[in-house]
Amino acid sequence: MTVFGEGLRIDLPVDEIPKYWYNIVPDLPEPCPPPLDPKTMKPAGLDSLWFFPKSLIEQEISQERYIEIPDEVRETYVRMARPTPLIRAKRLEEYLGTPAEIYYKYEGISPVGSHKGNTAIAQAYYNKIDGVERLVTETGAGQWGTALSLACAMFDMRCTVFMTRASHDQKPYRRVLMELYGSEVYASPSNVTEFGRKILSETPNHPGSLGVAISEAIETVKNDPKSKYSLGSVTNFVLLHQTIIGQEAIKQLELVDRKPDYVIGCVGGGSNYAGLAYPFLKEKLAGKLDAEFISVEPEAVPSFTRGVYAYDYGDTAGMTPLFPMYTVGHNFVTPPIHAGGLRYHGKAYSMSILVKNSLIRPVAVKQREVFDAAKLFSRIEGIVPAPESAHALLQAIKIAKNSKEKEVILFNMSGHGLLDLGGYAEYLSGRIINCDAVSINYDSIPMKIS
Ligand SMILES: Cc1ncc(COP(=O)(O)O)c(C=O)c1O
Repeated sequence: MTVFGEGLRIDLPVDEIPKYWYNIVPDLPEPCPPPLDPKTMKPAGLDSLWFFPKSLIEQEISQERYIEIPDEVRETYVRMARPTPLIRAKRLEEYLGTPAEIYYKYEGISPVGSHKGNTAIAQAYYNKIDGVERLVTETGAGQWGTALSLACAMFDMRCTVFMTRASHDQKPYRRVLMELYGSEVYASPSNVTEFGRKILSETPNHPGSLGVAISEAIETVKNDPKSKYSLGSVTNFVLLHQTIIGQEAIKQLELVDRKPDYVIGCVGGGSNYAGLAYPFLKEKLAGKLDAEFISVEPEAVPSFTRGVYAYDYGDTAGMTPLFPMYTVGHNFVTPPIHAGGLRYHGKAYSMSILVKNSLIRPVAVKQREVFDAAKLFSRIEGIVPAPESAHALLQAIKIAKNSKEKEVILFNMSGHGLLDLGGYAEYLSGRIINCDAVSINYDSIPMKIS
């Protein structure tokens, strides 16, 4: 007997929200090199991470494989619509005429519209118990700023967001949402920091970049002892917090007796993809899963596919330590693609090691084909993907089209695109460009790692 709707949407009960985050660091095929102090070029001490609170620095360097999720955080995850559903894109399979099964984890169901709440909640919680009163951050597309704004509201903290000017002007409703949650929002470069004023005096129409906005956020924290900095991607602790995505997906696929042959995600700094992929990679490293892992980035910001593995700054002004990562250089001028969350110059340290060791295969795609895939998905499955997430969708479609057998393709739909309609309007009017002819100044990258 067939059961109505069986296997189309796989939900978990609320009490199945994972109790632990999975830390991949002890399972990496080689140790992650330490950050360097740019003045001495020696390993930076923990005080170089002064802009984070103590409890998150402990997580950053932890070698524990599992870290318990506090009850307050799990409870707030329920408000963020966790556990999120795993959905089978059956109409898409039929449209493509593929024998493959396509599943996606839908993080866009969260009130903040993306996976970013998973770490925002955790970071607000730990900062609060460490006595911090205000969090300061940067945001590109606005997804991260929105998530942190709500998280701060939930834990009664103040929040200041530097939003890259290009996104700020393209996505006015993101700003409204952040302000609605109680944050103060500045278009970056702004005139409220010394670094912002310097950039504006040199280039009055500067479109902003994540690197510049990070520098402004860190400068703000430096001048206010009650504030700390909060980051939405790249670091070990952010990726750690996201691993609830993959842990839930493993249980959900078990409910329909499936294991993935492909695990796919888009990569800005790496957090949503790590969140989905790392719990599955743990199975692969233990010899229990034979899947291929594919990360997807824009050709306009090709850190994995054309960048180098090097020590580089996290920000443009060079205020952070040097981090070991794949990078296109902290001075890279990011083309104005609509996937604002994929415009960062560097990639997560742990993911860089996995790519270097061929455990993750990186691919790069063009903006126009990303929007083609997103349009198809909107019409066929009904969900408008965030332009970032549509990179993963496109790769899933490419694989499904070539499938000759019943393979299982899993990808992360990291967010919805309902506040990205400006980009969609440009696409529908035929004005969207590919932005793929980027030049990388390899000489500006401080120190290559062999
Ligand atoms: C919906 C969405 N997906 C993906 C990303 C990329 O970031 P990450 O690689 O950290 O997941 C962003 C970043 O803002 C985002 O908003």
